[in-house]
Amino acid sequence: MGAAVVNVRELSAAYGPVRALSGVSLEVPEGAVTTVLGGNGAGKSTLLRAISGTLPFHGGAVRGGEIRLGEEVLTGRRADRVVAAGVVQVPEGRQVFSRMSVADNLRAGALGERGRRAGRQAGREVLERIFELFPVLKERAGQRAGLLSGGEQQMLAMGRALMARPRLLLLDEPSLGLSPLMTARIAETIREINADGTAVLLVEQNAALALRLASTACVLENGQVVLAGDAAELAASDEVRRRYLGIAEEDPAEDPAEDPAEDAGGDPGEAPDNDAGQAVDRAVDKAAGQAAGQAAGQAAGQAAGQAGDKAPAPAARPALARWSA
Ligand SMILES: Nc1ncnc2c1ncn2[C@@H]1O[C@H](COP(=O)(O)OP(=O)(O)OP(=O)(O)O)[C@@H](O)[C@H]1O
Ligand SMILES: [Mg+2]
Repeated sequence: MGAAVVNVRELSAAYGPVRALSGVSLEVPEGAVTTVLGGNGAGKSTLLRAISGTLPFHGGAVRGGEIRLGEEVLTGRRADRVVAAGVVQVPEGRQVFSRMSVADNLRAGALGERGRRAGRQAGREVLERIFELFPVLKERAGQRAGLLSGGEQQMLAMGRALMARPRLLLLDEPSLGLSPLMTARIAETIREINADGTAVLLVEQNAALALRLASTACVLENGQVVLAGDAAELAASDEVRRRYLGIAEEDPAEDPAEDPAEDAGGDPGEAPDNDAGQAVDRAVDKAAGQAAGQAAGQAAGQAAGQAGDKAPAPAARPALARWSA
């Protein structure tokens, strides 16, 4: 595995007065899948947005620390420049352009493509690979993206991200609201994408799934890393098993779909949140994202869904204070 593709050092971020990340350090090793776990409001999406340069679209900003991609400093770069450097995010809630065709959604992903000189041939090869990974996107290429199922839209969002041929793919809760079968398919595809050589930083509330896919992991709590290390070791720790994998007696390698609460996450009425405000926010995000897909695109959609009305993270879960990275 070797060197880190992305190195986050002492990162702090805030939305106005709301501090969302404090002194977060994290590495994604080259070619690895790294997962970030944590409860609602822990700062997982904020971390991905900070890396992808999309935090300003949500009214947030990096307040300190550094993000590096290899030797390049990403901190403070505009989102399109981060894409050009090789880091692409699939945001929470997918945010496909629902009125555009599947094919046009994929083409939109190529706009920020790194090394445009690589030309059409390379672009066609990437598209072919995406169709191999997600055959349904080929079958539905001419259809409006809004007609796809939730799982298919997740595939489209991932395919669109891959069009930019990222070195690092940032995935924000890809299994949210999906059936166990669809979740398993998405997981398998994440494995294949990673096997193609793309590093993945995976945010998941479905901890069992994430820990099976990842080689390294960290746990965020109230914007801080409270636990980090080898994914298998974390999966075996009593604290993680009890808090994030359900009952301590259960085998962490079991089917992630067994916990129905995890799969209900896409339905705002049954979201596994212990914070109703976050559940509402998520529902608003989702609706706004769908609306925005008809017009202004994913950045605007996300920004609209999150317009400034989030409360500071309530202490919904007891802090893992005795854990340290
Ligand atoms: N656009 C925003 N404006 C203001 N505060 C925000 C915004 N987005 C997130 N926050 C706040 O920042 C903190 C971290 O939120 P974040 O969305 O990163 O958490 P998360 O771990 O992704 O949670 P979830 O599991 O619910 O997606 C929370 O206190 C949240 O309320
Ligand atoms: Mg989130």
